[in-house]
Amino acid sequence: MSETLLETRGVWQRFGGLVANSDVSIKVGRGEIVGLIGPNGAGKSTLFNLIAGVLPPTQGSIIFDGEDVTKLPATARCARGIGRTFQVVKSFESMTVIDNVIVGALIRTTVMREARRKAHEVLKFCGLDARADVLASQLIPSEKRRLEVARALATEPKVEHVMEIVMPLVDRAIVLDLGKVLTEGKPADVVRDPKVITAYLGDRHAVGA
Ligand SMILES: Nc1ncnc2c1ncn2[C@@H]1O[C@H](COP(=O)(O)OP(=O)(O)OP(=O)(O)O)[C@@H](O)[C@H]1O
Ligand SMILES: [Mg+2]
Repeated sequence: MSETLLETRGVWQRFGGLVANSDVSIKVGRGEIVGLIGPNGAGKSTLFNLIAGVLPPTQGSIIFDGEDVTKLPATARCARGIGRTFQVVKSFESMTVIDNVIVGALIRTTVMREARRKAHEVLKFCGLDARADVLASQLIPSEKRRLEVARALATEPKVEHVMEIVMPLVDRAIVLDLGKVLTEGKPADVVRDPKVITAYLGDRHAVGA
């Protein structure tokens, strides 16, 4: 079993003349929670799509659990456990683990039976099915983080990560800017990095905010 769960090696994605991902090499360790952040248009969604198999990269490869999955379709990658999550919401301490995840699933369906089924599926995926009926407040910190990821997965959301919500949850942050890895490191260091601040401010100025 390799220590690295997911790796992108020299990944490029070009859309005509536009370079959305430029030589992106990242690694995610087994059990590690990594936040991929960056200003609008940095190439985050593109990289997710390349990892999930929605798009084939123009160049480079995607390695999952020691296997080169670059040529595998999205369905086959899903079966191997590559999933996408977009938005993380804080859990409700006074509710059970399963109810927390059902709340997330109810964003996608109004049918309770379907929401419960989805919640169980996601809890299993996150390794929390044995804890389904305990209160969220009783979870240990690492389980709480997994619950928050489970809730996010259950919503199948379309909205992208919000930095302030994601940062406390991650072990490491990788910052993309203009299609390239700008920097990576501990969340607290990354948010103070002048390069990162400039990338975000530049982006804000560009949209006039
Ligand atoms: N299918 C596509 N065809 C052409 N250009 C695309 C396509 N998808 C993305 N792009 C361009 O690639 C660049 C990166 O976009 P991407 O959506 O990956 O950025 P992002 O970091 O997810 O941005 P946001 O924070 O706004 O979600 C942008 O300039 C975008 O316009
Ligand atoms: Mg995006």
